[in-house]
Amino acid sequence: GRADDWRCIVTIRHFTDLADAGTDGLKAMLAAAKARKEARAGSPKGTADKDAPLAGFTLAMIFEKNSTRTRVSFDMAMRQLGGTTIVMDAGSMQLGRGETVADTARVLSRYVDAIMIRTDDHQKLIDLAKHATVPVINGLTDASHPCQIMADLLTILEHKGTVEGLRWAWLGDGNNVLHSIVEAGSLLGFTVAVGCPEGYDPDPAVIDAAKARGGDVRITRDAGDAAAGADVIVTDTWISMGQTDGAEKLAAMMPFQVDEALMAKAASDAAFLHCLPAHRGEEVTDAVIDGPQSLIWDEAENRLHAQKAVLLWCLGKL
Ligand code: CP
Repeated sequence: GRADDWRCIVTIRHFTDLADAGTDGLKAMLAAAKARKEARAGSPKGTADKDAPLAGFTLAMIFEKNSTRTRVSFDMAMRQLGGTTIVMDAGSMQLGRGETVADTARVLSRYVDAIMIRTDDHQKLIDLAKHATVPVINGLTDASHPCQIMADLLTILEHKGTVEGLRWAWLGDGNNVLHSIVEAGSLLGFTVAVGCPEGYDPDPAVIDAAKARGGDVRITRDAGDAAAGADVIVTDTWISMGQTDGAEKLAAMMPFQVDEALMAKAASDAAFLHCLPAHRGEEVTDAVIDGPQSLIWDEAENRLHAQKAVLLWCLGKL
């Protein structure tokens, strides 16, 4: 994207969604993430990578929603790259108390080198990127979660050697995480079968955009059909905090629970992913999430390594 400030003469590498990086950018980031992870294996987590490529750089993080993984992994990523972070919770900022997104973007751009935001309003992320003169990173919005999917892709790359040509099955509602999986599938060449009940479909615009790029994505109302022969089974929490239709949604979603019987329909070496936090006994059973096919701890760790690559790409270091 390009900031609309007339004084801006350089193209800024925002990471609002996976498509911002394109296929080549995603492949470069995944390769860098894997190489950096391997290079520092066994090092104390607080030590910088040998080249410390972001020494002197600062990332500001804005959290309008709770986070464990995104907050800590971005903070540690900047430390390992030699940089620093400033973490701001929405309640402690002037943003939303009369100060606009545009003014916040312009001011923060004078202090820091990159901005990450987690918000329930995707348009706020886009507005931030439009007015910032430094890269803006999507740390989760209501529409997408590209940093999570970078970690998922790295995890599958490590365990299966490739992501291309694989069959992914999603069991759950059409949420932000699924949107980024569908986008990734269309950019990196894997298929996505979405098993979800009627009324909980993903955004049709996301499906149409993926298909326009040549993506292979389909929706089914049958969990077994979605899972059949899949190489990767993915789910996510069904009920967000404060959600009012919880009981009704839970009843609609239960046929899509990932249990051992459903895993048995997938390929014998299928991987199980969950971005966490999990509601065990709802979207997934203990036997699956704690079972031998579950890669959730590698997946969680890979948030750190994948985001280091995202930061390097945004800041022109890849
Ligand atoms: N998966 C994920 O984004 O975790 P947090 O909500 O803890 O950041």
